[in-house]
Amino acid sequence: MFDPAAVEPVVELLADLAEQGRALEFGIGTGWIALPLTGRGVPVVGIDNSEAMVARLRAKPGGEAIDVTIGDFATTRVEGEFSVVYLVFNTIFNLVTQEEQVACFRNAAAHLRRRRPVRDRDRGTGPPEPPALLSRAELRLCSYLARKQDQVSFRGM
Ligand SMILES: C[S@@+](CC[C@H](N)C(=O)[O-])C[C@H]1O[C@@H](n2cnc3c(N)ncnc32)[C@H](O)[C@@H]1O
Repeated sequence: MFDPAAVEPVVELLADLAEQGRALEFGIGTGWIALPLTGRGVPVVGIDNSEAMVARLRAKPGGEAIDVTIGDFATTRVEGEFSVVYLVFNTIFNLVTQEEQVACFRNAAAHLRRRRPVRDRDRGTGPPEPPALLSRAELRLCSYLARKQDQVSFRGM
């Protein structure tokens, strides 16, 4: 699952989607994705409900520096906003009911940075645009990840 040949393109894509912003990983685990993504200069914050997994992350070089909150990624909120919120491989299937999965997507949306429409961004005016879970980039990402089997990610417009 964590063959470098599989990890590198995922990290590359997430770094691209993060632009200059931060990334939030649901189910950060031992940091197979978060650590190389941090190495690419993307600040990563994580949520995980397993103290044991996070202890393994902490034992790795650079693992201490990653801000992790222990909690359920369907409901746990962390400070600030993020350019991309993602989970990988089959992590979504740790949530076994539709209600939990919907709550997870809502939680992801709540953490996403709001972006103004391009027209207003150019003028520096206008209200923030509500976040949407699927942009063209996301659809591209989802289809890419679907080809990679069971990997899911979502980001703000
Ligand atoms: C497949 S592993 C992900 C591995 C991780 N991406 C990595 O690079 O090590 C799934 C992770 O999700 C965590 N997890 C499972 N259900 C969770 C939940 N409801 N809330 C928070 N974390 C959860 C597990 O503890 C585990 O670390």
